[in-house]
Amino acid sequence: MTSKAAISIKGLNKSFGDTSVLKDISLDIAPGERVVVIGPSGTGKSTLLRCLNYLDRPDSGTIRVGDLTVESAKASRSDILALRRRTSFVFQNYALFANKTARENITQALITVKGQSKQGAATRADEILRETGLIDKADSYPAALSGGQQQRVGIGRAMALDADLMLFDEPTSALDPEWVGEVLDLMRRVAEKHQTMLIVTHEMQFAREIADRIIFMSDGQIVEQGPPEQLLENPQDPRTKAFLWRVSKVAVDPY
Ligand SMILES: Nc1ncnc2c1ncn2[C@@H]1O[C@H](COP(=O)(O)OP(=O)(O)OP(=O)(O)O)[C@@H](O)[C@H]1O
Ligand SMILES: [Mg+2]
Repeated sequence: MTSKAAISIKGLNKSFGDTSVLKDISLDIAPGERVVVIGPSGTGKSTLLRCLNYLDRPDSGTIRVGDLTVESAKASRSDILALRRRTSFVFQNYALFANKTARENITQALITVKGQSKQGAATRADEILRETGLIDKADSYPAALSGGQQQRVGIGRAMALDADLMLFDEPTSALDPEWVGEVLDLMRRVAEKHQTMLIVTHEMQFAREIADRIIFMSDGQIVEQGPPEQLLENPQDPRTKAFLWRVSKVAVDPY
């Protein structure tokens, strides 16, 4: 794996209609850093990740990944493609192509996003399938895979891009409980490679274990952030305290 670039987000704003969803978000992420985002539903966590990959276009703000700077006011198609080569996305619902096999889901991404040759993409896909323990499922279609296996393909596809920043939007929350563990294990393996990761999750135990920093978002803003012990055990803002109290009431956390 090549060394990763630093990420710098400045003044990101996004509205849907009259609703302001991201309010002047600024955030720097160091190479290899693992940042977990938590916060109430509807707070803009997914929108933040989607804006970083330009799945949603920010209204204003700048995203810098190493030497690539994308300003929302003048982002061209080639800027957006360059950004997508440098950030990869793991979706809550896997977002696999149903009519493509596990291998084809990965090769497709390498061909369209990275412009790789079919042959190069196939070689890389098989490497990734071995790494994720899915090589025997290479020719299976998503419908023939368990939820956990489908999400491992989703993560494998994002790993294959060797991006500077991997974005994970609640990667385990659509899974039956029995498949959560294998997906978190794969994410731990990704982390061990010093991959820079920005993860939205409700798995608080996992967040505590994996994060260098936890960010609490509420109502489109970063309210508070810090190392896991600090943020989880000694939160300062009343909104953070209220949120953590609520999740501790509902958390039945087998990990
Ligand atoms: N494409 C869209 N069109 C209109 N409104 C949207 C769109 N996407 C998100 N929103 C609104 O933006 C707000 C933030 O949504 P977002 O999905 O980012 O929240 P979230 O923090 O990820 O919530 P959750 O924890 O439920 O996933 C919500 O009010 C949502 O309804
Ligand atoms: Mg969300």
